[in-house]
Amino acid sequence: MNVWLVVFCLGVLHVSRSCCAVQQRSNVTDVIGSSELDVVQAGVQRSGRFFPFYTIGRIANVPCTSPSGLSGTCLIVGECKDNGGLASGSCSSRTNQAVCCVYTKSCGGSTDLNSTYFTNSGFPGPYNGGGTCTFTVNPSSGICQLRIDFRSLTLSQPTGDGSCTTDRLTIVGGSPAVVPICGENTGQHLYLNFAGSSPISLRIATNGDVSFNRLWNIELSQIACASAERAPNGCLQYYTDETGEISSLNYGLGENPALNTIGARGSRQLANTNYGICIRPAAAKCSVSYSLPPNDRYAFTLSDNAIVIDPTLLGSAMLSATGAACTTDFIIIPNPTGMTADRFCGLGFPGVTSSARPFVVYTVTNGNETPDVANRGFRLLYTQNACSAA
Ligand SMILES: *[C@@H]1O[C@H](CO)[C@@H](O)[C@H](O)[C@H]1NC(C)=O
Ligand SMILES: *[C@@H]1O[C@H](CO)[C@@H](O)[C@H](O)[C@H]1NC(C)=O
Repeated sequence: MNVWLVVFCLGVLHVSRSCCAVQQRSNVTDVIGSSELDVVQAGVQRSGRFFPFYTIGRIANVPCTSPSGLSGTCLIVGECKDNGGLASGSCSSRTNQAVCCVYTKSCGGSTDLNSTYFTNSGFPGPYNGGGTCTFTVNPSSGICQLRIDFRSLTLSQPTGDGSCTTDRLTIVGGSPAVVPICGENTGQHLYLNFAGSSPISLRIATNGDVSFNRLWNIELSQIACASAERAPNGCLQYYTDETGEISSLNYGLGENPALNTIGARGSRQLANTNYGICIRPAAAKCSVSYSLPPNDRYAFTLSDNAIVIDPTLLGSAMLSATGAACTTDFIIIPNPTGMTADRFCGLGFPGVTSSARPFVVYTVTNGNETPDVANRGFRLLYTQNACSAA
């Protein structure tokens, strides 16, 4: 965008009412012409509201990053304020009227603006209390998906069987369906499809009888139907880097202190999950290899008893179970190279390469952790391989 046009409205109120038409969400194609008539029409046509004494202008309302690393939208300062946003640094070297506008909202709120952060009350401090906190996202036109980034999501751990009974995040209105989420999920993300123009709601319910420092800061990004960032169907998670790390929800260091129904040490795996973790094929890459990270003994503990095993053996291929042996909690890597079975479970992982498209790992858990003991789920490194090596 090379054209920058900033009009200052300094007139008296009855003049500015017609002059200062500020659209709620202007965009790159909005043209505020040089005559007042054009300006008025722009405001009326787009059902904008009228704000006296604000600055109107033409800037590209593109995503921006605040000095502290938050996602925002480049807006004229008055429009940012009217939207309830916080001006967080400049997003133009041409005018100080263009700011990186960051939206942060909490319980009971809703938004139709891109890149809104939904936080616990008292954030950045924790919330140690009970109740239900709901936030609703209404898709604007041309939007198909919601990307949910857990910049922070710390809730209490599930029961030893993986059920979120004390605290839970429930997401309603989108697809695919998501089980209630709890425990530690900072750094995880989800992609959900909007059902037409219907909203998606996030509901966090916490039990105030259980003292725990909950923390959430959830970034909500709207993804256009035509966007290349859109996740393919069936992918609850979508990774776009050439190499990276995937892990099960609530995977983390340390055991779940809760016991399972048979009184054994519980699991961090969430119950009843069934979703796809997809990886976007990079240019000239034809397969993906999955391996265990170094120095993380519990990085593949999906089924069986993890405390009767010599800890130095955890993760090793000899403790890996495959195929029909995997019926409760397992992952599926389609068509693995040189292997007959595509299901993997147990307490070890052999290292797997697959060239099947889409690049995806399905994760499945059942509703309990018997006879499993002290499982944590999985954390795997992935690397895409050049086509010549596939
Ligand atoms: C910009 O706004 C116009 C008019 O409201 C709309 O037709 C167009 O699709 C919008 N473009 C984008 C990229 O949002
Ligand atoms: C919303 O913001 C994200 C970055 O935070 C960006 O990738 C995405 O394209 C934006 N969506 C729209 C519709 O502009």
